[in-house]
Amino acid sequence: MQNDSPNKAGVPARLRTALPDDVIFGHSSAMAEIQSRAARICRTNVPILICGEGGTGKEVLAHWIHCNSEYASGEFVKVNCAAIPGTLLESELFGYEKGAFTGANHVKPGRVELAHRGTLFLDEIADLDLNLQSKLLHFLQDGTFSRIGDHSERKVDARLICATNKDLDQERQTGRFRDDLYYRVHVFRLKMPPLRERREDIPVLVEFFRKQFEKQFEMKSEAFPPEMLEYLKNLAWAGNIRELSNGIARYVLLGPEAQIYQDMATRRARNTGLQIGGGDSHGMLKRMSKDAIKEMERNVILETLRANQWNRRKTAQALKISYRALIYKIRDAGLISRRAALQKADASGTISVGGN
Ligand SMILES: Nc1ncnc2c1ncn2[C@@H]1O[C@H](COP(=O)(O)OP(=O)(O)OP(=O)(O)O)[C@@H](O)[C@H]1O
Ligand SMILES: [Mg+2]
Repeated sequence: MQNDSPNKAGVPARLRTALPDDVIFGHSSAMAEIQSRAARICRTNVPILICGEGGTGKEVLAHWIHCNSEYASGEFVKVNCAAIPGTLLESELFGYEKGAFTGANHVKPGRVELAHRGTLFLDEIADLDLNLQSKLLHFLQDGTFSRIGDHSERKVDARLICATNKDLDQERQTGRFRDDLYYRVHVFRLKMPPLRERREDIPVLVEFFRKQFEKQFEMKSEAFPPEMLEYLKNLAWAGNIRELSNGIARYVLLGPEAQIYQDMATRRARNTGLQIGGGDSHGMLKRMSKDAIKEMERNVILETLRANQWNRRKTAQALKISYRALIYKIRDAGLISRRAALQKADASGTISVGGN
């Protein structure tokens, strides 16, 4: 039987998102405020604007709101307005009919339609170009739109959540964001606090990510000692939860010698105004040896990839590490782009890349 008892935010358990509330909201008062405001609004269909620095969990919160709303049985449809160029974005959003333009060989429903009875999540809304802003405004006014190449109007009932890490008010004042659209999407605003303003949540996040990456990489790791957690709580975390999560992934993969320690040493030096190489010769030596180990590891992976014709499964077997661990190391070492460059170079016969 399903547990339908309301949680502390008064939301039925069956509707909650996959991440535990304790992880999403932690124990800080800043996040308790966000949770209670989000819980109050999530049952209505009022548009929500989520602001906050990069990596603070805007998308995670948007998904939580979706899962706890009356629209939870529909889709959570994300559109990244910054990642898709203007002309393409219009067809992505509103879809098109066959023959609407050169290359439109079939009917394509837009993401707006896919979000019917669900949530339309417009990420990086400040980057929407002015032409599309007016089309979006038209849609938001009465929920109607037309596919490109089709004159009939369609109607969609969807909950709108927008997110941005820019100052939308400033964008409006400088004319990059339409006034009327601003007031439409800005009905209810939630501002995600940066991690440095919710430091008490760091231990629960660290443990959550450690367990998550242990499962993902099929590896075991040591729990962080209390003094280490204390240390992590005092860092600046400019990249917020994303930066923390990446650091823990490295820790699970590489153990206590992981780059998370190296990063921390570098940051500690920066925070205390101490220049690496400017007197801290012990720190510099440690850093140099870690860099050298990393470089050696990168070369071994590169050579093994080459020896196995870039077949990553065979490479992982040869290196006796899991496939996932290899994928992570390849990304971490920037070898994907090198491989792409290598293929490009092979095709043009000009440059040689990664040839150590
Ligand atoms: N409260 C949280 N609990 C667990 N993981 C989280 C939490 N908040 C963020 N994360 C993780 O941190 C990363 C960044 O989160 P998310 O994408 O939601 O941030 P964002 O604010 O949308 O960032 P950006 O502005 O760069 O798009 C993701 O991997 C996400 O899973
Ligand atoms: Mg985001």
